[in-house]
Amino acid sequence: MAHVISKTPINTIATTTSSTAVVDHRRSLVPQAWEKSVRKIGLAECEQAGVSLAHAFAADALSMYLLDGGEADRYSDETKWKLHVRIMTYLVSAHCYSGVVTTIGPDYDAVALWMPPGMHMDDWWTIFRSGMWRLYYQLGSEGRKRYYEDVLPLLHETMDEVMGDREYYYLAYIGTKPSARGKGYAKKLIMDMAAKADAEDRAMYLESSSSDNIGYYERFGFQYRKEISFKRGPVPVPLFIMVREPAGKPVVKGAEEDVPILDQIETVKV
Ligand SMILES: CC(C)(COP(=O)(O)OP(=O)(O)OC[C@H]1O[C@@H](n2cnc3c(N)ncnc32)[C@H](O)[C@@H]1OP(=O)(O)O)[C@@H](O)C(=O)NCCC(=O)NCCS
Repeated sequence: MAHVISKTPINTIATTTSSTAVVDHRRSLVPQAWEKSVRKIGLAECEQAGVSLAHAFAADALSMYLLDGGEADRYSDETKWKLHVRIMTYLVSAHCYSGVVTTIGPDYDAVALWMPPGMHMDDWWTIFRSGMWRLYYQLGSEGRKRYYEDVLPLLHETMDEVMGDREYYYLAYIGTKPSARGKGYAKKLIMDMAAKADAEDRAMYLESSSSDNIGYYERFGFQYRKEISFKRGPVPVPLFIMVREPAGKPVVKGAEEDVPILDQIETVKV
């Protein structure tokens, strides 16, 4: 008669006529570390992260700005949603190739897209490999004008004006799915990269598409710098530029929560 005794209290021993076996009542197959640890994702997870960001930005004014106007006003809700998911997935993919994508939560609950200093996604190779080139054909003619002639140039111009020659971490997107908000996920994503920026004595830069979030980002040391707006729609869509100066505190190595994610995980080569 074989007996296999578990060392952990969550396992129980099931007795059969011939043997005693361990029945493993694990909570879930989703890695438990995902719940509380920030992790960097690679290309294989772009679609899940893209869907998650799409949910986070489903009511976002800038996302709607790109999907409204011209023939897009005749698109069905389903068509717009699919396009929104594709845009987010292309963006995640471009950041996997040329930047950094971090996530936390059992189901990509919060996702952040980062451009570390010296990296950018404007090169043709990234635009081609990430699928970003498809946007040109998928946005309506008005959406194309809004994205390529309005949004992108103003974002670049403003970054240059506010940051000049400085090297900084750019938080391009951060979103938590509505069902996962208030659990501290976004805070962990921000503080994870802030620890790295601080250790390198570098600033961080973001554009918030909602004035409601200014107070949120201030909690992490960001300061409001200026407002810009996009004006091709019936009402201007504002963006609020914020900068976080480095805190100048050394990162304590050893404590898991204090070690920046980029130091924990090797850069994914693609
Ligand atoms: C903004 C957003 C990313 C916050 O995500 P989240 O995971 O719910 O945030 P957290 O749980 O980390 O919040 C941490 C703290 O900030 C507070 N907070 C959340 N939103 C806030 C806001 N708009 N203003 C001030 N405080 C806020 C929370 O109550 C929490 O407080 P606590 O630590 O005292 O409990 C999320 O609401 C979101 O995805 N919004 C839609 C997309 C968006 O606007 N993205 C950013 C614009 S670019």
